[in-house]
Amino acid sequence: MTDVAATPTQTVRLSVRDRELEYPVVPAVEGNDGIVVASLLKDTGMVTVDPGFTNTASCESKITYIDGDEGVLRYRGYPIRQLAEGSTFLETSYLLIHGELPSKEERVAFAERVNRHGLVHEDFRTFMGTFPRHAHPMAVMASAMNALGTFYPESLSISDEEAIELATVLILAKTRTITSYVHRARRGEPLLYPDYSRGYVEDFLRMTFAEPYAQYEANPAVVAAMEKLLILHADHEQNCSTSTVRIVGSSNANIYASMAAGVNALGGPLHGGANEAVLVMLDEILANGGDATDFMKRVKNKEPGVRLMGFGHRVYKNYDPRAAIVKESAHEVLESLGASDPRLEIAMGLEEIALADDYFISRKLYPNVDFYTGLIYKAMGFDTAMFTPLFALGRMPGWIAQWREMRKDPQTKIGRPRQIYTGSPKRDYVPVDER
Ligand code: ACO
Repeated sequence: MTDVAATPTQTVRLSVRDRELEYPVVPAVEGNDGIVVASLLKDTGMVTVDPGFTNTASCESKITYIDGDEGVLRYRGYPIRQLAEGSTFLETSYLLIHGELPSKEERVAFAERVNRHGLVHEDFRTFMGTFPRHAHPMAVMASAMNALGTFYPESLSISDEEAIELATVLILAKTRTITSYVHRARRGEPLLYPDYSRGYVEDFLRMTFAEPYAQYEANPAVVAAMEKLLILHADHEQNCSTSTVRIVGSSNANIYASMAAGVNALGGPLHGGANEAVLVMLDEILANGGDATDFMKRVKNKEPGVRLMGFGHRVYKNYDPRAAIVKESAHEVLESLGASDPRLEIAMGLEEIALADDYFISRKLYPNVDFYTGLIYKAMGFDTAMFTPLFALGRMPGWIAQWREMRKDPQTKIGRPRQIYTGSPKRDYVPVDER
């Protein structure tokens, strides 16, 4: 029998098998304090069990704060809505990575440095054209992240501050180029070079959608929406992909290898891949006549593999603040493009049903960031398979910031969880003829 009692001196007492033990508490500035249980194994011979790490803080972090019950998200203390409405993606990247908003001069210098590095080596362009046309973009993107490091060995050090800053700039700059190349290579279109005179997001849209040598002017409403979407995706504390980035980096793997691991983790449909899964789901409902009632019945009956994609979140037990902003943006973009999409009606219908239905209310399932993003990306001209690479493009500064924080943290150790062994006890090998 184990008992936990907090004391005002920021320690907790645990009684484990009749032994009284005291463990320190790490106080949070906001949110949950943490009990430091690292010495529990040495003290008691027991480990903690927490599948899915639902109750485990793997680190202390100063980057992002989420209050899942209140639907709050802040980067470095700044509310997400203020950043989405007032900042740019590169400025937010700077904030996440360096901890403070840049001065006017720092802002310009950072943007210029990133933009100037948009070009990739010619061999890298060739490499980007060698994947099969039908390859999933996330697989291509993860391979590209790994390959990127091989082209810039001078930026591979995990301890030299200048090399890390260079890698930071190179990754932000070249992920944009890579994402546009993934889009074009899938269509057999020529890969375009960056245009330094344009902004990060504007030139991303040009590199993605322009015809070679043809004049291209991006729709300002689309540029603004893309800027906002990238900001909304820029960090989300210790989710699956970010934890993957940190744990890979904790083995002293270089930053490119860690980013590639993050891309792979993000690709799963329970994580970043959900934006793609939402569109597949909406298409299916539309193909069946647009009536969501039958689909919702299947969700609530928990038919294998049927979930309301884009709903639910490990941390948010309230409306995901990002989803609210994305929903507004979806209306703005469709309006500015003079487009309409029957799937937006279906999505809003699903949300309306879910928010009034006891199955979803009792489980605190609300729309997450992925529920409406796909509709915007579709309206902009992206294929469904490109949605998760766009998420990865946005998440890059967050992963970089978390990787850098992890490297600087004196408490960082190689990530190595324990297990409870439940397999066979010792037995002797039986030669094949005797089996
Ligand atoms: N549709 C229907 N039921 C759901 C959904 C959903 N989208 N999400 C959770 N539930 C139900 C579960 O069946 C479970 O029901 P039960 O208590 O009767 O067994 C309960 O809600 C709790 O769900 P868990 O899966 O235990 O919650 P967990 O925190 O492990 O999972 C997750 C969170 C993976 C996001 C889940 O809600 C989900 O699968 N959502 C759909 C996929 C999705 O949109 N992912 C994107 C998340 S945001 C992001 O990663 C960027």
